[in-house]
Amino acid sequence: MEFEKDILCIGAGYVGGPTMAVIADRCPHYRVTVVDIDEDRIRAWNSDRLPIYEPGLDEVVARARGRNLFFSTALEDGIRNSDIIFVSVNTPTKTFGQGAGRAADLQYWEKTARQILRNAESHKIIVEKSTLPVRTAAAMERILNAAPDGPRFDVVSNPEFLAEGTAVRDLESPDRVLVGSRETPEGVQARKAVVEIYANWVSRERILESNIWSSELSKLTANAFLAQRISSINSISALCEKTNAVIDEVAYAIGTDSRIGSKFLKASVGFGGSCFKKDILNLVYICENYGLEEVARYWESVVRINEWQEKRFVRNILSNLFDTVAGKRVALFGFAFKANTGDTRESPAIYVARGLLEERARLVITDPKALGNARAVLADVDGNVSFEEDPYKAAEGAHAIAVLTEWDLYRGLDYERIYRSMVSPAFIFDGRNILDHQKLYEIGFNVFAIGKAPLKHFK
Ligand code: UDX
Repeated sequence: MEFEKDILCIGAGYVGGPTMAVIADRCPHYRVTVVDIDEDRIRAWNSDRLPIYEPGLDEVVARARGRNLFFSTALEDGIRNSDIIFVSVNTPTKTFGQGAGRAADLQYWEKTARQILRNAESHKIIVEKSTLPVRTAAAMERILNAAPDGPRFDVVSNPEFLAEGTAVRDLESPDRVLVGSRETPEGVQARKAVVEIYANWVSRERILESNIWSSELSKLTANAFLAQRISSINSISALCEKTNAVIDEVAYAIGTDSRIGSKFLKASVGFGGSCFKKDILNLVYICENYGLEEVARYWESVVRINEWQEKRFVRNILSNLFDTVAGKRVALFGFAFKANTGDTRESPAIYVARGLLEERARLVITDPKALGNARAVLADVDGNVSFEEDPYKAAEGAHAIAVLTEWDLYRGLDYERIYRSMVSPAFIFDGRNILDHQKLYEIGFNVFAIGKAPLKHFK
């Protein structure tokens, strides 16, 4: 069968995989191929056990795979055979040299650009899908169009706004899709080609076109604003704990102001995930580069408050367990950076686990989807840490439970049973404010939530 378009995606991760699966599902007339250098990952995409957990993804992949969705390691062929190439390789924060800890590490992107250059035999549209610092597209164009007689490349920015755990829903009915390009005739034509893909299922008014810099910067700014809301509410949560105010009541009261809105106002142990910190630090780095010190400090403080919130949570456990957790069993309920994902990147649980292990606690970690990643993330620690599928077993013999991920599962547990199996006095630190604190207190727990006064059975 002849396909109308041949789409390639380089990078089969949390963004590339689900995005291409939804495109293939919604556009049976396109052939969509996803390539990655990681053979295991491709094997998993071709199996019944996909490499990432995302509600609804199995069904989408099952419908399209083998029909017009293909996963492969054949990068060169993929490049040759495609008209449009999405690049969705990782751009982690740089760990070395200039801009270490802030700037994005672009080595994978550049390597990919050079592979495209080596293998392309005809005109290609290159779609920037990873989060990249503003102005990367220009560098890419320069690399790609370096060979004077080679084929032409047009670089388009199409930032991803999907959130993990709701990726399929976010892709199927996005608030908006952003497509940026140069404003030259070729640039605009390339932009239209990408718009056409989404127009198969997204209404036109939700597809926003802009210049390439606006598109790149919008992605960083959206994440910085979202993270800023969490840091703002978390900073107020500390004040609530000292006074008689209750953070959820405050959040509700301000969230009903239509100018503020109700989303992203849930106080927590801190935000995690692969994007927020990375994108904000990127923004900070860019501002510094342009000599905008004040702007850089302003956004940097969003990350600092988040670190402070994580630190505060650990300190709170320590001080309430009579200033020592050495040798005490502490159960961590949840390790993923949020519910409905197995992803643990930048999860506040990592910081909390390390902090408690430094204090020589005996940790038991439970999580319905993230135990594999948790093991890998903590592989280097030489503390006493074990992993347990069953939350009841995890809590057995523990002095304290710390809830770190808002899995629904944890709301419905039998806390009377858990209380009986724990060491007395038993403590719960609800880092996600998802439990019924009054009820837990009545069962006998000493309860510490985020942003409200503790419920203690002793002074
Ligand atoms: C985010 C953006 O939402 C998405 O648009 C972007 O493309 C990638 O980054 P993601 O990292 O998957 O997505 O998760 P998100 O739902 O934004 O949550 C980020 C963190 O903030 C999580 O740790 C979450 O638990 C925390 N959070 C979120 C809060 O602590 N309180 C809230 O009110 C909301």
